[in-house]
Amino acid sequence: MKKPFGSDDPAVLYGNRFLIEDAPAADFPDGGMSALDAMRLVDEELALEGDPQRNLATFVTTWMEPEAQRIIAENLYRNFIDHAEYPISAEIEQRCIRMLADLYHAPGETTGARTQGSSEAIMLGALSLKWKWKQRREAAGQAVDKPNLIFGGDVHVVWEKFCRYFDVEPRIVPLQEGKYTIGPEDVEPLIDENTIGVAAVLGTTFTGHADDIAGINDLLAGIKKEREMDVPLHVDAASGGFVWPFLYPDSKWDFRLEQVRSINVSGHKFGLVYPGVGWLVFREESDLAEDLVFYENYLGKTDATFTLNFSTGASMVLAQYYNFVRLGRQGYTYVMEAMQKNARALADRLEGLGDFELIGAGEEQLPLVAFKLVEGKNYDEFDLSWQLSAERGWMLPAYTMPPQAEAVKVLRALVKETLSRQQIDRLASDIGEACATLEKKGGAHPSERKQVKTGTGY
Ligand SMILES: Cc1ncc(COP(=O)(O)O)c(C=O)c1O
Repeated sequence: MKKPFGSDDPAVLYGNRFLIEDAPAADFPDGGMSALDAMRLVDEELALEGDPQRNLATFVTTWMEPEAQRIIAENLYRNFIDHAEYPISAEIEQRCIRMLADLYHAPGETTGARTQGSSEAIMLGALSLKWKWKQRREAAGQAVDKPNLIFGGDVHVVWEKFCRYFDVEPRIVPLQEGKYTIGPEDVEPLIDENTIGVAAVLGTTFTGHADDIAGINDLLAGIKKEREMDVPLHVDAASGGFVWPFLYPDSKWDFRLEQVRSINVSGHKFGLVYPGVGWLVFREESDLAEDLVFYENYLGKTDATFTLNFSTGASMVLAQYYNFVRLGRQGYTYVMEAMQKNARALADRLEGLGDFELIGAGEEQLPLVAFKLVEGKNYDEFDLSWQLSAERGWMLPAYTMPPQAEAVKVLRALVKETLSRQQIDRLASDIGEACATLEKKGGAHPSERKQVKTGTGY
């Protein structure tokens, strides 16, 4: 066992012992260290993480007001699931769900859940689709062994995860070059009596556009009438659920459409809360399959739970409520419009450089710029991503589109609340300079390419 440092050790007196020692990384440490050393150890390592201010990849909130941060910090000890001891936090969750149901035009009383993010909300929403389908089939004496779910190649990976984890056949509409969302014509041929539902995206991870949700709704409403087959529509509004209501309030994608039975949204994306909160909202209480609700009384009172996780912090729920009351419709509209104006300013600057083609810039879109290089360059999007990070530290993701559009390479810049017009100008100039460097030297070295940020962002 390693001797703990004595109080007379110079490292204790004058410095941080990890200046001259490796950090514990494999074996469970025999001895501990002072709180100051532990803090410095963690802090110093994290100094090499990506700088959120230059992170153009993430959809997730990287800045909140000091007042919101105070609420978060003061409530970190609070276990959200402990409804018996923390009933006010539970009530605040319910307020958030009611407000979201109102924002999404739910016709009446409804229900929903706070989740860890959209992934958990999607798992729960899709499980409810599966259970409701099973109930309908069993009631009619029909087989329940071959459920399928329809969605486009433009969905987030969580949808395929759901299908694999919960034994549902994924029926995926492939994308094509120039067509990065799906519509009713793509969905119709895939529907049969084993379809538990259709998932459509509002604000895709790849280009920020929306599937033709109204078109898919009309298709499903027609099928319900003509074939008496009720295929529900779930909207994955992970990003779009806090953008469309404020930027495109007349665009119908939510419970104004009769087949939309459930919606998920990430509070930690355009809901403007730090990571750790998502929401699932049902159209009506009856859209939640009752079999998925569990009742327990471990924590002092009988409680109904509909979650994949149990214990979790209450802070982000409280922070979400803070944002709802702090901003209201007017405030969210202001923030979304500001981001959209800056995204357009960036798009204009990039167009002006003459090196890029914008993807779907005139359409309803999240506040981001998706773009690719024009033909005939001696370098590609991955090279540019590398060069830009090397020259100025910007993290601009490059990725290929999903099948069958994988030949298309895309760059995508999220334009967040913290990216000022001044920084937009700087970013555009930096992109121009990185292009000029690449023109001269040609593409990046293979070893540089290996370091490119290729994820679509989260
Ligand atoms: C369209 C879409 N759905 C689902 C998710 C998963 O969301 P979360 O990270 O909140 O679990 C994302 C994340 O980027 C997304 O863009």
